[in-house]
Amino acid sequence: MTTSFQISFFLFCLISIASTDGTQLILVNNCKETIWPGLLGTAGHATPNAGGFDLQSGEEQILEVSENWSGRIWPRQGCCFDVQTGKGACQTGDCLGLLRCAGLSGIPPATVVEMTLGTPQSPLHYYDVSLVDGFNVPVSMRPIGDEAGSCGIAACEADLNACCPAALAERKEGKVVGCKSACLALNTDRYCCRGEFSDPNRCKPTVFGLVFKAVCPRAYSYAFDEATGLKNCRASRYVITFCPPN
Ligand SMILES: *[C@@H]1O[C@H](CO)[C@@H](O)[C@H](O)[C@H]1NC(C)=O
Repeated sequence: MTTSFQISFFLFCLISIASTDGTQLILVNNCKETIWPGLLGTAGHATPNAGGFDLQSGEEQILEVSENWSGRIWPRQGCCFDVQTGKGACQTGDCLGLLRCAGLSGIPPATVVEMTLGTPQSPLHYYDVSLVDGFNVPVSMRPIGDEAGSCGIAACEADLNACCPAALAERKEGKVVGCKSACLALNTDRYCCRGEFSDPNRCKPTVFGLVFKAVCPRAYSYAFDEATGLKNCRASRYVITFCPPN
């Protein structure tokens, strides 16, 4: 028998779902090791969870971001922080040795999930997984539920560290922990799409960009990469997975 309490509870739930203006980001760690996600809101936007926290293997963490939020999330790995002070270091993605990155971005190479979840001009959500700052850990971002627009999965699911050209490899304790972009490693106008190359017609993908693109076709691999890496969508929830199943 349905009681009026059950009905009003049901209505209450419907209203609370409908009145959620923001977006839910569900961060999942599918890696064998702990990941310390770093977070940074674009200027004028809040930074969730003070910019960083630890996410053990197999754990998930739900973040609520406000409507039109814009920012970036990146994995940090191989971290060691003092429990009292939150100070320490990470092998990749480190932000001045702090657990809480509040206001700081990570040191490349790191895989970066970038998103703009609506703007005053458009309600569409734009997101990509960027290798412009290199790669450290495989990441994907996919929408769940009430999708609109050309939704898709933004991802670099392969382990680029395993096929990183020696000139671009970032090594810690004898192990390749990251793979730099050609811009980061070689720092020339041609590789960084600067100066006379700061134009999509002049800055073509280099052999390194093509390697990244071949291994991770659903990622954004260099500054003027074609739009295949950039997704637009309108969903109320997204799952961001570190080491997504291949
Ligand atoms: C977000 O952008 C929409 C237009 O796309 C605007 O109507 C709305 O007021 C904005 N919300 C916030 C919280 O800025």
